[in-house]
Amino acid sequence: MEMNLLAQNAPQLRADNISEVMKAMTLEEKAQLLVGGANNFFSEGATVGRAAESVPGAAGTTAAIPRLGIPETILTDGPAGVRINPTRENDSRTYYATGFPIGTAIAATWNTGLAEEIGHAIGNEVKEYHCDVILGPGMNLHRNPLCGRNFEYYSEDPVVTGKIAAAYVRGVQAEGAGTSIKHYAVNSQETQRTSVDERVSQRAARELYLKGFEIAVRESQPWTVMSSYNRVNGEYAQGSHDLLTKILRDDWGFQGIVMTDWIGIRDGLPVIREVAAGNDLMEPGQPQQVKAIVEGVQNGSLSMEDVDRNVRRMLEYIVKTPAFKKYNATNAPDLRQHAELTRKVANEGIVLLKNSNGTLPFGTNVKTVSLFGISSYHFLSGGTGSGCVHTPYVVDMVTGLNNAGIQTTEELTNVYRKYLEFARLKFEADRDPSKWFQREEFGQQKYPEMEVSERCYRKEAANADAAIITIGRQAGEGIDRDVNTEFNLSDFERDMIIKVSNLFHQEGKPVVVVINSGSVVETASWKSYPDAIIVAWQPGEEGGNSMADILTGKANPSGKLTMTWPMAASDHPSTRNFPDYDQDMYQFTDRAVSNRQIPGFHFTNHEEDIYVGYRYFDSFNKDVSYPFGYGLSYTTFEYDKPAVSIKGEEITVSVNVRNSGKVAGKEAVQVYVSAPQGSLEKPEKELKAFGKTRTLQPGETETLTMRLQRRDLASYDESQTAWVVDEGTYSFKIGASVADIRCTATLKVAGMTEKTTNALATKAKLNLLRK
Ligand code: BGC
Repeated sequence: MEMNLLAQNAPQLRADNISEVMKAMTLEEKAQLLVGGANNFFSEGATVGRAAESVPGAAGTTAAIPRLGIPETILTDGPAGVRINPTRENDSRTYYATGFPIGTAIAATWNTGLAEEIGHAIGNEVKEYHCDVILGPGMNLHRNPLCGRNFEYYSEDPVVTGKIAAAYVRGVQAEGAGTSIKHYAVNSQETQRTSVDERVSQRAARELYLKGFEIAVRESQPWTVMSSYNRVNGEYAQGSHDLLTKILRDDWGFQGIVMTDWIGIRDGLPVIREVAAGNDLMEPGQPQQVKAIVEGVQNGSLSMEDVDRNVRRMLEYIVKTPAFKKYNATNAPDLRQHAELTRKVANEGIVLLKNSNGTLPFGTNVKTVSLFGISSYHFLSGGTGSGCVHTPYVVDMVTGLNNAGIQTTEELTNVYRKYLEFARLKFEADRDPSKWFQREEFGQQKYPEMEVSERCYRKEAANADAAIITIGRQAGEGIDRDVNTEFNLSDFERDMIIKVSNLFHQEGKPVVVVINSGSVVETASWKSYPDAIIVAWQPGEEGGNSMADILTGKANPSGKLTMTWPMAASDHPSTRNFPDYDQDMYQFTDRAVSNRQIPGFHFTNHEEDIYVGYRYFDSFNKDVSYPFGYGLSYTTFEYDKPAVSIKGEEITVSVNVRNSGKVAGKEAVQVYVSAPQGSLEKPEKELKAFGKTRTLQPGETETLTMRLQRRDLASYDESQTAWVVDEGTYSFKIGASVADIRCTATLKVAGMTEKTTNALATKAKLNLLRK
């Protein structure tokens, strides 16, 4: 009776009565709202938690308080599409979601408009599948090519990362669904990710690891931010007042909620400290966390103001959600239309690395091709772990080529298909059940390659018009990549490329290598053999069709690399301090163990400091296999009439880009800036803006205009804890890649200083790389 009365008199949440609802909340209810709704972290069927009850397979929920009209909201992975279970018990319907191109593929388009379109489509699927927030975009920096989750992230450069992420966020949120930019911050490795201490200078943190997040927050106000598992300069990101309040809110003006990455009570990090630091929501949620918050307030170790501040933010988030607005989810998004979008985006993100003698696009004389490599038949549409999506289908290379009217040689195709069946069965039989990421529900597996006899290679060279060799690589959450078996090609793969190239060339027939990988592989040792090399990335469910579009010239490649492809993995200075590389520093031997199981405390010193990716190779004149920003087209472009001007705080850069070749195409244009001599050492040049032309017909010119702010020219001066723009003349170098600057314009800029909070002081001594 009493309860009923309470319920009757309780205010029901509206957008304009949050204070009133807060007054009516008990301390227990407030604590519950700050902790996700999961009861059982490792429940079956979902990654985690009670979300399994309303949307099976979604990652988590926020707690409902029905008495106050506060609905449960549902959080789903992310980022390459909605990750929910495709089938449900006692339900004949299916719940497949579109597998969009992975992060690197989207970034490689250099097209923020497309990233925004993808965002719209994903936002639509989030809503239609009864969810509220997509746990993405993933935006950690590609500090090193060996990070297992690089495929989910965008680039080694923070401007590309931030601009693409902001566009994705704008797209999703325009649909009335939420995003969670992750993993904040400095989570650029998987090994030991839940405990590792990422030691980084304040400057490298601000200029590189945080910069992308800063851009996304300032330009798109994501509803939520996900704090990462790792420590930064000795403190867990999840409990870091510096990261979650001083930088995120005080410096950048973030308005939304911060949620933890998926973990329970942390060793050495009291729940109350997370709350006080500005972590509004503990995911997936443990009853003990609710208890800890209640007790913290009762015994005075946690202030009621901190709790109320977070509760208010939670309610401000909730009133924006589809759940609160009682969105009528259909469970039937337009998967066909979204599949077309994946194909369009993938086509624009695919990167042509090599195309000798105009081998591509194939002419009409190429009617039958020999398809080598297991990944031709089991094309990898996305990576593994929470970032995988249960797609309705994946178009493999055979199907893609067939759809475009190209046949594959019958015998080889049959043998590979039978082998694939065998490889699947064998994989299942041998699988180590403790390796959760090896389960099919966590993404497609890469099976071992099939031996091919010399006789078979010869027969193929005689019978087919061309050869395509797909080199596949799979990677994902929980494990970093191994140099020898994943970054480098195996002896077998290199041998296959060389043999097929030699034998087909003897017959006067071309050879194309397709790299079906979310991240970088070694190319320097074998790239001279094939005629053409294409990076397909993991381009989503329409992969084979996208590849056929490129191979036949239906689409003209316009993707460019958003990370350096080095000669060797060890060329990146960060490799020295990347786990598992230096066995003395990191003494575990089996990287393929979920890092949750490795005891002990580990650290990663970011001694390369500001020299990440091209900032290093370009400043230290180090050879690379393919530079940052590189990618070929079937046409050529000329750059002319560079201009740069400043009006108020806004700098405008423009350049005329002319299609000087024979077919229509688009060009991604990059603006690098070299700063005048100032008090700080700086990279040779840094990307500050980019743009992409529309489709230009042969002979057509577009004046491409790109904008930035004066503060974007700043470097972070630790001695002043401020962003500082030195006064002087800046060179704006407009290029087709970092190594292919086409023209330059200069601009005199007045100096400026922008004070920041003093945050993330380095505790360990770091031996920072300098020129
Ligand atoms: C991952 C996140 C993911 C979450 C929920 C975590 O292990 O790091 O990226 O969103 O799980 O599945």
